[in-house]
Amino acid sequence: MCGISGIVHSENIGRNLFNSIRNLEYRGYDSCGMAMLQQGELDLRKNVGGIDEVNAIEKLDQMQGSIGIAHTRWATHGGVTQENAHPHLSPDRKFVIVHNGIISNYQELRERLLSQGVVFESLTDTEVFVNLLEESYSKYNDLEKAFLAALGEIKGSFSIVMLSSHDPDHLYCVKKESPLLLGLGEGCNYVGSDLNAFLEYTRKAIVLDDGEYVVLGRNEYQIRKVENGELVEKKVLHIDWDVETSKKGGYSHYMLKEIFDEPQTVRQALKIPREQISGFAEMLTDATHAYLMGVGTTYYVANISQYFFSTLANQYYPALSSDEFSVVRIESGDMVLALSQSGETYDTKTSLEYAKTHGAKTAAVVNVMGSAISMMVDQVIMQGSGPEICVVSTKAALAQTFIMLRVALELGLMRKQITQKDYQTHQQDLESFPQMVEQILNEQSGFVRNIARATSHVEHWLFLGCGVYYPVAMESALKMKEITYQHAEGMPAGFLKHGTLSMVEPALHTLFFVPLPEQKVLHDRTLNAMEQVKTRGGTVIAIMFQGDERTLAVTNQAIQLPQMSSLCAPLAQMIMAQMFAYYAALDLGRNIDKPRNLAKSVTVG
Ligand code: G6P
Repeated sequence: MCGISGIVHSENIGRNLFNSIRNLEYRGYDSCGMAMLQQGELDLRKNVGGIDEVNAIEKLDQMQGSIGIAHTRWATHGGVTQENAHPHLSPDRKFVIVHNGIISNYQELRERLLSQGVVFESLTDTEVFVNLLEESYSKYNDLEKAFLAALGEIKGSFSIVMLSSHDPDHLYCVKKESPLLLGLGEGCNYVGSDLNAFLEYTRKAIVLDDGEYVVLGRNEYQIRKVENGELVEKKVLHIDWDVETSKKGGYSHYMLKEIFDEPQTVRQALKIPREQISGFAEMLTDATHAYLMGVGTTYYVANISQYFFSTLANQYYPALSSDEFSVVRIESGDMVLALSQSGETYDTKTSLEYAKTHGAKTAAVVNVMGSAISMMVDQVIMQGSGPEICVVSTKAALAQTFIMLRVALELGLMRKQITQKDYQTHQQDLESFPQMVEQILNEQSGFVRNIARATSHVEHWLFLGCGVYYPVAMESALKMKEITYQHAEGMPAGFLKHGTLSMVEPALHTLFFVPLPEQKVLHDRTLNAMEQVKTRGGTVIAIMFQGDERTLAVTNQAIQLPQMSSLCAPLAQMIMAQMFAYYAALDLGRNIDKPRNLAKSVTVG
């Protein structure tokens, strides 16, 4: 999604500002640009394409000045063109802005401005604001007043940063329903739509709340309420994310690096205090009806969690995709537990708002500190997985799944569905999991790569599993689609015979998520489906556990994991499928970290 960055410094910041939008690249974008004040004049450069492509044409990193703003755009209103790219300049060239979100009343404002003779260069909603600024400045001759007056005219959700030659020392920023943070440096300050915009330069951050605006200088800042101009005192957060963790660290792709971060991510998830985990379990117990919610990968994490709750705590909580959540009638006493890596996903955020307005309690597992969802819910667990740069979620999804497993265990104990002794045994299994993840990553990646290479040409896949392995199959199929652009369909293994079996022939490949043999019922059901495919000439690949001779006899190829606890087994398979998709996409030469058409965080509806 779109990224915003701004810097106020005493030295030339062209290079740093350019770096800051490069650090926002992972959000997904189609054009980018920068504007800086140079000797009293605004210099604006923007174009379509990747950061390096645009830089090659526009020489963004060579721009001069000590104050500037920058943007990476993911088109919503207006196509992918140079004119529609941000920043947007006013006709008198005195105001320049970057904007995230949507100005919902832009059509009527545009019409009014057009009737006054304003000529628009772009088709964006954003350009109306820069014209409103010019108009209100001519009325008030005061930049702050003009900024507020223009803000008074727009509706919708937006974070905006403005630079004007009328005030060469300050950036004017506002936040409403779209994230914006300040970064505080020594003799310089930063603003960004997420921490990555300035994490390379400072760890001190302030999260702005809705309805706040900032006049940001290099040594000072003032945060006020748009509503009444009242000064607001804000907490300065110290961000403990290591800059290095957000870099590729020698791996060819962020995705691979993030998969190899997983042992550490699980360790972090184990460090989350038990009180926080049981806080979630208590909320679930107290609720009249409870729902699990997420979208994309997090929807599948919710689905996996559904099985954990039912097996360990004998509780059934429906999992809903955030974009479909409105089918649920929410009443006071209900509870919604949301999952979101970014904490900014529009569908999840709006569904949480809907739940809140109908009196539900809300909780969320979120990775990004200070994100909208983390701030709006009654209880939050910060998963602490570190920045996830690749568009598709791997380590964050695994950590969320692991955290939900912990919540289900706690609930199971609370509801006396498992004994203290079982709880201890399970706990030990969880504690040994990071080491297991290390082992399987090291031992299996070669095998997985070979199978992925040999099958990367396959255009249609069925990913099949039973019980908890079914949502694991669905999540894995999503991963495959996202990065290989090949078709993969996740399905319950037992469902296959009710229709889809007609598709089976040698070219159709199936990937089976085979349970441990000790999970007898699930194992038998899975094996049964494998045989149905095999006897009809389909190709059978399995992610399975060592020592399972019956399964081995039916497969064409297999990834064999060491024996482990049944709790951790689906998570280990999830990791293998992430790797499988990665190597298939690598072989196909796909843009793995930034798959076409996708964005890391979809903050619009
Ligand atoms: C986007 C991404 C998906 C992601 C989903 C939910 O659609 O492309 O990969 O799973 O958002 O994101 P969240 O940040 O809420 O987990």
